[in-house]
Amino acid sequence: MVTNRTFTMIKPDAVKNGHIGAILAQINAAGFRIVAMKLTQLSPAKAAKFYEVHKERPFYGELVDFMSSGPIVAAILEKENAVEDFRKLIGATDPAKADPGTIRALYAQSMGENAVHGSDSDENAQIESAFHFSGVEEF
Ligand code: RTP
Ligand code: MG
Repeated sequence: MVTNRTFTMIKPDAVKNGHIGAILAQINAAGFRIVAMKLTQLSPAKAAKFYEVHKERPFYGELVDFMSSGPIVAAILEKENAVEDFRKLIGATDPAKADPGTIRALYAQSMGENAVHGSDSDENAQIESAFHFSGVEEF
């Protein structure tokens, strides 16, 4: 398994608010290489599948509605220690608690609409990457 990669989505709020460029610049400046990338929109069914681990949580319905509400940027990123370093770069789930300068502190509005996704383990990075990209789309 490749362990120096993570998977990210720039979520519908950040795309709608015009932050794709700034977020990608911050990702590059932090030393991540973009391995795969696309602008796409999740169907409600695909969003439900992607976030299936949260099925029993009270916010699941809202999360699925939000994540399928508009286009997202999906990307695979490569860097040593990618998963952990990317979680540091994006900051806490709740932007009010995210460290200053993190992507969520800068661009997120709320716990639900929090600008970016980052995989939480190498295993999930692999699963989430394969969910969005075929091997020939990775460079
Ligand atoms: P993500 O998976 O999107 O990178 O976020 P995360 O690991 O920081 O947070 P996680 O616990 O995996 O939750 C997934 C997403 O669900 C939404 N959420 N809303 N209203 C709430 O209490 C609540 N809690 C979580 C957020 O959009 C979160 O990113
Ligand atoms: Mg998560």
